[in-house]
Amino acid sequence: MKIKRLATLLCLLAMTTVMMADEFIRICTNNVEMVLRVSGNGRVYQSYLGKKLMFENDLSHLRQGGEVYLTHGMEDYFEPAIEVTHNDGNPSLLLKYHSHETLVTDKGAAETVVTLKDDKYPTSVRLHYVAYADEDVIEAWTEITNGEKKPVMLKKYASNLLHFNRPAYYLTSFTGDWADEAHMNTTPLKAGKMVIDTKLGSRAGMFNPSMFILSLNRPATETEGECLLGTLGWTGNFRYTFEVDNKQALRVISGINPYASEYALGKGETFVTPKFYFTYSNQGLGLASRNLHDWARRHQLKNGEGDRMTLLNNWEATYFDFSEEKLCELMGDAVRLGVDMFLLDDGWFGNKHPRHSDTQGLGDWQETADKLPHGVGFLVDEAKKKNIKFGIWIEPEMVNPKSELYEKHKDWVIHLPNRDEYYFRNQLVLDLSNPEVQDFVFGVVDGLMTKYPEIAFFKWDCNSPITNIYSPYLGKDKQTHLYVEHVRGLYNVLDRIKAKYPDLPMMLCSGGGGRLDYKALEYFTEYWASDNTDPVERLFIQYANSFFYPAKATCAHVTTWNRSASVKFRTEVAMMGKLGFDIKLSDMSESEVTYANAAVKNYNRLKPTILDGDMYRLVSPYEGAHASTMFVGKDKQQAVVFAFDVYPRFGDKRYPVCLMGLDPAKQYRVKEINLMPGQRSWMDGNDRVYSGDYLMTVGLNIFTGNKLHSRVIEVTAE
Ligand code: GLA
Repeated sequence: MKIKRLATLLCLLAMTTVMMADEFIRICTNNVEMVLRVSGNGRVYQSYLGKKLMFENDLSHLRQGGEVYLTHGMEDYFEPAIEVTHNDGNPSLLLKYHSHETLVTDKGAAETVVTLKDDKYPTSVRLHYVAYADEDVIEAWTEITNGEKKPVMLKKYASNLLHFNRPAYYLTSFTGDWADEAHMNTTPLKAGKMVIDTKLGSRAGMFNPSMFILSLNRPATETEGECLLGTLGWTGNFRYTFEVDNKQALRVISGINPYASEYALGKGETFVTPKFYFTYSNQGLGLASRNLHDWARRHQLKNGEGDRMTLLNNWEATYFDFSEEKLCELMGDAVRLGVDMFLLDDGWFGNKHPRHSDTQGLGDWQETADKLPHGVGFLVDEAKKKNIKFGIWIEPEMVNPKSELYEKHKDWVIHLPNRDEYYFRNQLVLDLSNPEVQDFVFGVVDGLMTKYPEIAFFKWDCNSPITNIYSPYLGKDKQTHLYVEHVRGLYNVLDRIKAKYPDLPMMLCSGGGGRLDYKALEYFTEYWASDNTDPVERLFIQYANSFFYPAKATCAHVTTWNRSASVKFRTEVAMMGKLGFDIKLSDMSESEVTYANAAVKNYNRLKPTILDGDMYRLVSPYEGAHASTMFVGKDKQQAVVFAFDVYPRFGDKRYPVCLMGLDPAKQYRVKEINLMPGQRSWMDGNDRVYSGDYLMTVGLNIFTGNKLHSRVIEVTAE
């Protein structure tokens, strides 16, 4: 009996020692907190992630949680975050706490760095967490350093691992294809593993964009529920693994896809993973999105707080079939519309193999002499004369086999030396692991800018995924580095462009929206969401992307896709993003042109609200017949509501829609704008003054029973 009591006492004592030895590392924003626990056994656990805790004293009550960066080869039974084979063949890693520190980054955020070390091998891992207080966004990444005398093999090297312990999880993922981007699918996560990944290399997100929403306990709505929005900043292969274990705990591992990408880390080298960006909200998805938008504009998106140009693009108006005369005519259309810029798309280059279609010319970045006899300079001058800016399309990472570049430099192309080439859109991908290729790609932008310094904008396209993967440059031992080195090579190029042309706006495009992530947006002011510009399809695509990306970055153009939708409807969908036109005025009636010109003026006036304000998704297009999004200026003086009736059925029931984000105490005038010439508003309660409280509690009848009908409603504080 005595022995039993003694044993219990010793055990309690031991536990107390462990408890006393535990140290907590708090990674906090204004409203969100992640708690890491350094346990008495020297290992580090994630004890908590959620709403910020009020009292430090409560930390000791937290459960231990899951190990913060699970390793392969030790006692865990599930997917690890890291797998390393040491030079002696030992495949295990045991990471123990070494130290931690908190610094302030140059963006004013708090960066916590936790250093872990293996106790048998000189391998160290540094976990970085940067917490943006006001935006509730956390960036997480990892540095892995090899202190051994010889290389170690990295087989898995996640950016981040998160643990959750809830009764239920719901994952919203995004899937798509060319012209069919960003479908949202929500599924409960049950015991087992769900993997979202890509192996496409360059046009990496063509089938799966790199964003996910995780709801905890129950599916979050716009205004309620706990959710985490996560996305990896990597312009290449990524992988998210969601694994629910035997105890119903969930681990989320985010990082580069280790598929075919074992990485030999040399002596003294450090592998820096890409950043995983996430935000958590306990008040639903709307708040989480607004936090990401604020963070993006303030800290991540190129020139995130600057202005954006409206434009007219010639692609849909001409495809490859244009002349100087036609382009000048289109510039005249741009002027009549009142947009800021004319954008010349594909088809302006190549002489031996002129780019008359997508079958040839890619790689030969000289103007086609018989198509543009006076060169790009003439077009820049013409635009200048018309008082608009000039932008140009390039696809500098790619090559058509029918090109002078390919004839000269097959060694610059990713291809298997002893197999037939496989073409995606008749083209191949240049090998950006090769510094000479990086110079060439940089030279495409630099060459044009040097020759024509008044080029004001680039649309940078990327139409092919990587196929037949083999780098003539890397040599036979380093082939598994290619997916990673290719992306790093791209960043080298983009870093050089950003350093030399810091204010140059660029659009990220990839056969529509095939490549989109927040690391790329460090270099690009905006992105092309889809080649599909049917406004009904765009309602869905832009809605999905709005969970992660602000309207300011989302290019949306008015085209002739879906002519059964009016020009007004098409324009109003595009006004919810960065507005552009990709249409000839001859495809529009006189009154439509008058309308569009006035719409551009309205857009310019409302830009601070739409592009820099807070976005509220009022009605999802997934609900069926209607959709609505509103934007509210940061000072709550102005708001704009976009309302769309898509295909309401005969018996459609309509209810007032409650607005959001206004000041309840302010009085607002509500006015339908953007009407067609001669059209009068028949909206219920138009041009009246209401309190913000009324508009947010009772709402407005913004919808109609008409098919493909749209409304823009301006809400102005009196
Ligand atoms: C891609 C882009 C389009 C257009 C064409 C040109 O498909 O997404 O917008 O630029 O290339 O070939």
